[in-house]
Amino acid sequence: MLKYIWSALLLLGSWKVNAQSSGYKITIDLTEQRTEISPMLYGHFIEYLGRCIDGGIYEENSELADARSFRMDVLEKVQGLDIPLLRFPGGTVIKTYHWEDGIGPKDQRPKRPNLIWGGVNDNHFGTAEFIEYCKEIGAAPFLVVNMSTATAEEAANWVEYCNGTEDTYWANLRREHGYEEPFNVKYWGIGNEEYAEPDAGLHQDVDFYIKDAWQFVKLMKLQDPSLKMTLVGTSHDLHWSKRVLEEMGPVCDFLSIHLYAIPADTSYQTLIKSVETFENDFDKMRPLLAETPQVVKDFSPWYRFPPREEPVKLAVDEWGIWDLNSGAGKGDYQMEYTYHWGHAMAVGKFINLFMENADIIGLATWAQTVNVLAPIMTNEKGAFLQTIYTPLKAYRQYVLPQHLAIKREGESLFGEVQSIDATASISQDGKEIVLAVLNLDPSEEQGLELDFAGGGAAMEWLEHIIYSAPSLDAVNDFNQQVVEEEKVMMKKNIRDGLNLQLKPASINFIRLKVRD
Ligand code: AHR
Repeated sequence: MLKYIWSALLLLGSWKVNAQSSGYKITIDLTEQRTEISPMLYGHFIEYLGRCIDGGIYEENSELADARSFRMDVLEKVQGLDIPLLRFPGGTVIKTYHWEDGIGPKDQRPKRPNLIWGGVNDNHFGTAEFIEYCKEIGAAPFLVVNMSTATAEEAANWVEYCNGTEDTYWANLRREHGYEEPFNVKYWGIGNEEYAEPDAGLHQDVDFYIKDAWQFVKLMKLQDPSLKMTLVGTSHDLHWSKRVLEEMGPVCDFLSIHLYAIPADTSYQTLIKSVETFENDFDKMRPLLAETPQVVKDFSPWYRFPPREEPVKLAVDEWGIWDLNSGAGKGDYQMEYTYHWGHAMAVGKFINLFMENADIIGLATWAQTVNVLAPIMTNEKGAFLQTIYTPLKAYRQYVLPQHLAIKREGESLFGEVQSIDATASISQDGKEIVLAVLNLDPSEEQGLELDFAGGGAAMEWLEHIIYSAPSLDAVNDFNQQVVEEEKVMMKKNIRDGLNLQLKPASINFIRLKVRD
């Protein structure tokens, strides 16, 4: 539900100009430090898990699907997220996945048991279908290779199938399958959570992983030296991450970490705090990245491909909320969780945290897009958007390309949580600013004072976009959409600052246009 309020007067809507100072103050100074926010921060992840792919984005013989069996109702919703990067096919499932099963005529593709998540994978949604889906949504593809039951050579063949341009076997096979042009897959993951002992992975020991990962990287880069490699790291085992960076730093474009918020109980405080703790994960990873040479020197020409060109960044290539109290329990491999408005607030907190750590995050992919821990849910008759869709879409839509450091003053707590959580972004030309401000407090409105350092910068206009819901427990389903959107617009020179009122449990985007 969208309410739009256009105001030329000063006291309408949610804000007041030059009003009494309120509890929390943000000072915007255009000369403060700016940091690029990777556009790849808004990526997503799909896996052969439950109904994410089959029955989610892809469904054969469905009236809702097109000739390629892409569910059109789902596609439209995925397109709404404006996803820049899509990771596939896992996840843990890659431990037994063979990519050759998912190419060529569909009726000749082998059916395999999904040994990791259960069910059967008929492999009808394979490499080419994934690439077509990426094209349909305008996302760059990101493929993850099997290091457990497959070889480095098999992974290199996949690179050749996808990217090969010469008259060679795997490139020709792609052409035979109807794809003359290469798929140009740049992003590749070398394994997934290889440290995880219960998984059907081989490695677990970091030195074993490093030895194998080098072989994978070498063979894959010999096929295409321009690949961007994500190697397995973790913020739970710094020794593992440190060793990977020490030994593989020259070819590691991104070091993977997975961040799932797993609240211990049903309280909203616990949920928000479970996201807050990730601040600590970034604080632990930052020094490791700083210790890794920014520029690779003395890389042997005998590798026959160049080293990485940019400093290593983190790939948060799985992040999300795994709330065992919300619809499905431990060991439920379908993971069809229900997300209420409190979860949407937690997602806002998550993305604010990413923005505050933009200097070390190269990419992030939400796990997962449809049905599994997901913003989009389906049944055979249709699809609906869970509450968490709102922040995932809105941050992508409103946040600008650079992070702008801001000064924050004042404190207002509810329980142990700071009520206001704010971050700022700015356009490349410095003419537009967007503040993403959460009022996490579920019961109290919060006053927010905005000040422009030195009063120098005049703002030409301001728009306040507010997302809220009737209660923290409110959920969307096939019959109802509880999330409310309100827009308040003001055109006015704002030189001396202004005060805003923020609704309880609201996600706010404050768009400011700097006057020439
Ligand atoms: O996203 C679900 C699973 O969570 C992924 O397969 C795995 O990588 C992670 O543990």
